[in-house]
Amino acid sequence: MVSNRTNRKVKKIIKPQVVLEGAGVRLKRSFPTNVLDYPDPFLLFDHFGSDDPADYLAGFPMHPHRGIETVTYMLAGAVNHRDSIGNSGTIRAGDVQWMTAGRGILHEEMPEPIDGHMEGFQLWVNLPSGLKMTQPAYQEVAAMSIPGVESGPGVRLRLIVGNVDEFTGPVVGIAAEPVYLDVALSERVVFSHPFPRDHTVLIYLYRGSIYLVEENTNTGKTIYAPAMLLLEDGDMVTVRSADEPVRFLVMSGKPMNEQIFRYGPFVMNTRAEIEQTLLELRNGTFIKI
Ligand code: CO
Repeated sequence: MVSNRTNRKVKKIIKPQVVLEGAGVRLKRSFPTNVLDYPDPFLLFDHFGSDDPADYLAGFPMHPHRGIETVTYMLAGAVNHRDSIGNSGTIRAGDVQWMTAGRGILHEEMPEPIDGHMEGFQLWVNLPSGLKMTQPAYQEVAAMSIPGVESGPGVRLRLIVGNVDEFTGPVVGIAAEPVYLDVALSERVVFSHPFPRDHTVLIYLYRGSIYLVEENTNTGKTIYAPAMLLLEDGDMVTVRSADEPVRFLVMSGKPMNEQIFRYGPFVMNTRAEIEQTLLELRNGTFIKI
């Protein structure tokens, strides 16, 4: 049988911009930027970390979130966190924290180097209007609980959420129906995986380079890390490594197609909901038990 599944082409290549966040943390932001605002259902993507502790030790002191999910994935070092409802812990290399802020949480996220290194990612995922005021919840996943899948020669991946071959990632029950993979390729191999049509797919290249083949030609171009790629619609995602090993994240999710209204760490559907949020912060009713 002839397959007529289409490969997703690259729609946009975003070079991350250096921004200061929290109490003065330098990080590389892929979106929102002036090049890419909102690849629905994803709201923000930051790559943090450096070998210079001055870039991040000030951390993210107590701050609120409402209406979103924040996903922290660590490659090196650790982040110590605590929050307004009594949770605390440490996210270490290879661990994931999927936090559903829902109707509101106040938390602190303080990076800590280990052997001089600290590196990780934070992704924000939108909540649909019906879940923006849901009860806050955490899925804390230790590195050892994340399946490592060898899905072909020279193709290794860690499966945070979604399905690959017969494996299922440990994060469950997320409204955006996300897939989140951390993929490592040896030099000159191909990774190929189907994603649902109409879902948004992003690739964040964080080590090495990949080779993009131009459709129906014998030419192509090499894309170097760090780079965020937004893909067009289609059935398959195919990534070729160039002449060196490469590491990248693949993130996909179902667009919510709802109006959003952002204000810093809050993402709601209307201006009135943001004004209500700010009022509750001022009068002390933001946290609801
Ligand atoms: Co936060």
